[in-house]
Amino acid sequence: MPPSAPRGHASEAVSVAAERLWAYIVMAIIALLVLMMVVTGLHWASMPPSRVETVDVKTVHIKGEFVETNLGTTMSPDGKVTVHLIAQQYSFVPQCIVVPADMPVIFRGTATDVIHGFVVGKTNANTMLIPGFVATFTTTFPRTGEQLMPCHEYCGTGHEAMWARVQVLPAQEFLSKARSGERLSCVPR
Ligand code: CUA
Repeated sequence: MPPSAPRGHASEAVSVAAERLWAYIVMAIIALLVLMMVVTGLHWASMPPSRVETVDVKTVHIKGEFVETNLGTTMSPDGKVTVHLIAQQYSFVPQCIVVPADMPVIFRGTATDVIHGFVVGKTNANTMLIPGFVATFTTTFPRTGEQLMPCHEYCGTGHEAMWARVQVLPAQEFLSKARSGERLSCVPR
């Protein structure tokens, strides 16, 4: 049928053009993704962490700020609240951490064996704990109450059973407990 032949050619040309267009679009997307990887990779490589604090894993238990008697929450005379904690297979020390609400809280932690990490409930208190390095950040807890603090880096067979609790106290209640200057925790004694 003569009239159908040109129409067949036309539709073939249309489909070839459409496929070529899609090929160009896909190539552009792939090029964009590769470019993003290269740019972000170079960006991160050229901007190392602003500060790196190391700690000797072999002596972390016996000297320095992570000895057992220094773990927990303390308030310095200038009113700074600091939580010192250690992660190890498969627990955090202390197991229950006391912090005030509506006050900046400095966390300082490290790990003694493998990489661990933690997140406090649904707050933005979230970090990795790497043996040999001190992880530190400052955060504020707007709500009082108890939060769970699970380990969120796979650290071995006991990983899913590794968690601590965080008690966020009203600032006044915390201050009356912390005024003595000794370290605080809510671990039952
Ligand atoms: Cu510690 Cu997972």
